Amino acid sequence: MTKPIDRRRFLAGASSVAAAAALTGCSEPGSDAFVNPPGVALGPFGSNSTAEEVTEGLDLTGKTALITGANSGLGYETMRVLAMRGAKVIGTGRTAEKADTACASIPGGMATPAVLELSNLGSVASCAEQVLEMDTPIDMLILNAGIMALPELEQVDGVERQFFVNHLGHFALTVELLERVKAAPAGRIVVLSSSGHQWAPEGGIEFDNLSGEREYDPMKMYGQSKLANGLFAFELARRLKDTNATANAVHPGIINTNLGRHFPKWTTFVADTLGWVFMKDVPEGAATSTYVAASPLVEGMSGYYFADCNPVVPDPRMEDPELAARLWEVSEEMTGVRAA
Ligand SMILES: NC(=O)c1ccc[n+]([C@@H]2O[C@H](COP(=O)([O-])OP(=O)(O)OC[C@H]3O[C@@H](n4cnc5c(N)ncnc54)[C@H](OP(=O)(O)O)[C@@H]3O)[C@@H](O)[C@H]2O)c1
Repeated sequence: MTKPIDRRRFLAGASSVAAAAALTGCSEPGSDAFVNPPGVALGPFGSNSTAEEVTEGLDLTGKTALITGANSGLGYETMRVLAMRGAKVIGTGRTAEKADTACASIPGGMATPAVLELSNLGSVASCAEQVLEMDTPIDMLILNAGIMALPELEQVDGVERQFFVNHLGHFALTVELLERVKAAPAGRIVVLSSSGHQWAPEGGIEFDNLSGEREYDPMKMYGQSKLANGLFAFELARRLKDTNATANAVHPGIINTNLGRHFPKWTTFVADTLGWVFMKDVPEGAATSTYVAASPLVEGMSGYYFADCNPVVPDPRMEDPELAARLWEVSEEMTGVRAA
């Protein structure tokens, strides 16, 4: 059953709505009080740092990064800055035209385009195959692509689309490429989650409603997919613990990008006109994922949830190892892609 969109939660969640939320007295969940985990040293960067600032002075020559959703928003900025610091970047887009155009705009031939449509497991497999054929270790695997709050229930192979695109497609891609990440001297997997993971259903992941048919709420389902992103990062960290590779989840902040494309037009207007007061800009929004992917200051850190360039405490459900293990198992079953 499709539920009408809950207007208040819609407002609280949209990237384009942070401004409106502030105006109406709502606050963006998680924005007011990020708590740092005890005993973890904090880095020098924060909410106003940009991707260029957090990588200043770094020489990433010889490193390879793969970024999903590199044609737009945070993914494009991450690709631009990593390439600027000397990394070779594989930038994915949903079509060859989008990937080609984005990568062609990166100077010095540092970016290689790849087609990746996360709602199609055949496309995921082809993308993985193309990357495997490059025969290069992957130093940074940045799972950035995403969609948010589709107003009506949409399904892919009988699965609610946000869960499929944001989590399952990335799960399959990562498992296919895991050996390449492990082949790097210190491979890093960065999963773009969101503070919106808190809007996930009470039990975290509704394994009995992954089709979305029993009940569909756009924000709750977005929250579920972003909780799945975090659980996936944490489970990866557990599975990679005896290797040189790491995995972390990231909340980038609230940024006015195309992510809010399904929100009412007036919220886009508010974000376009007033968003600069309340939101990060794209260079700031790309800072945390770029930092976690590339900075020597986070070397060896694994199994953390970062926001504003520092580890913060997520909703406890993200740290539930049983939920993460079950999600992994179900994801293997649903995608048919299994870890070696
Ligand atoms: N912006 C925020 O406030 C915010 C807050 C918290 C978390 N995040 C997370 O940050 C990440 C980046 O978002 P953004 O703000 O940069 O949004 P964006 O500008 O809309 O970028 C999203 C990217 O994902 C791609 N994508 C969408 N559906 C896809 C699919 N089925 N297969 C492959 N790629 C697909 C898009 O391709 P097209 O251009 O072809 O659609 C685009 O390249 C997302 O995971 C999002 O959940 C963002």
